[in-house]
Amino acid sequence: SDKLNIAIDGPASSGKSTVAKIIAKDFNYIYTDTGAMYRSVTYLALKYQVDFTDEKALVDLIHRYPITFKQAEGGQLVFVDGQDVTMAIRLPEVTQHVSQIAALKAVRQELVKQQQSIAKAGGVVMDGRDIGTVVLPDAQVKIFLNASVEERAQRRYKENMEKGIACDFDELKEAIAKRDYYDSHRENSPLKQASDAIAIDTTGMSIDEVVLAIENIAKQKL
Ligand code: C5P
Repeated sequence: SDKLNIAIDGPASSGKSTVAKIIAKDFNYIYTDTGAMYRSVTYLALKYQVDFTDEKALVDLIHRYPITFKQAEGGQLVFVDGQDVTMAIRLPEVTQHVSQIAALKAVRQELVKQQQSIAKAGGVVMDGRDIGTVVLPDAQVKIFLNASVEERAQRRYKENMEKGIACDFDELKEAIAKRDYYDSHRENSPLKQASDAIAIDTTGMSIDEVVLAIENIAKQKL
């Protein structure tokens, strides 16, 4: 039958993007990282020194500098303002400020519109915080990924070590917990499990196990 839309939500470092990318590849669907969009706006606001509370100026930034994704061999690249910002949007300065910008209603409205347009034809695996609740309420597959904050911090720490990025484990864990709290308690589209989403606690699960679980759920809908 037709191509599905697969919504994957969950807290920071819950493995959403890792599994979403694999599933998109296996199903030949398009992967959309909505966190990268909020990160790109944050990157632009820092670059052009736009006040983080000035919603109108931030929406102007989104209009002036469209965010685009490009599929490359090594994975998906993110472009904005004529620059490859794939790495830059992961820097600590962006991560520290992104939740503040993502809490703004006008910014969300603008990015949600773009996300809905990407998913219009189906065949999208989209990860974020509000995909199942707000962006794609009619998605045929809705997954809520979770894992203990300890485990999520350990995964991120290991990943950083492998990439040669120095970091402090306790600081990492605290930053993750803080971002989750902020994302879950904001007024606009807070991080929340959709009532019809299937929750998967990935604590102690391998990436392959999580991918298999989600693909089995999706195959039942095809
Ligand atoms: O997924 P990632 O950790 O890259 O997301 C960065 C931030 O973007 C989140 O902490 C959250 O504040 C925001 N976000 C959001 N809604 C989404 C995706 C991300 O508010 N759908």
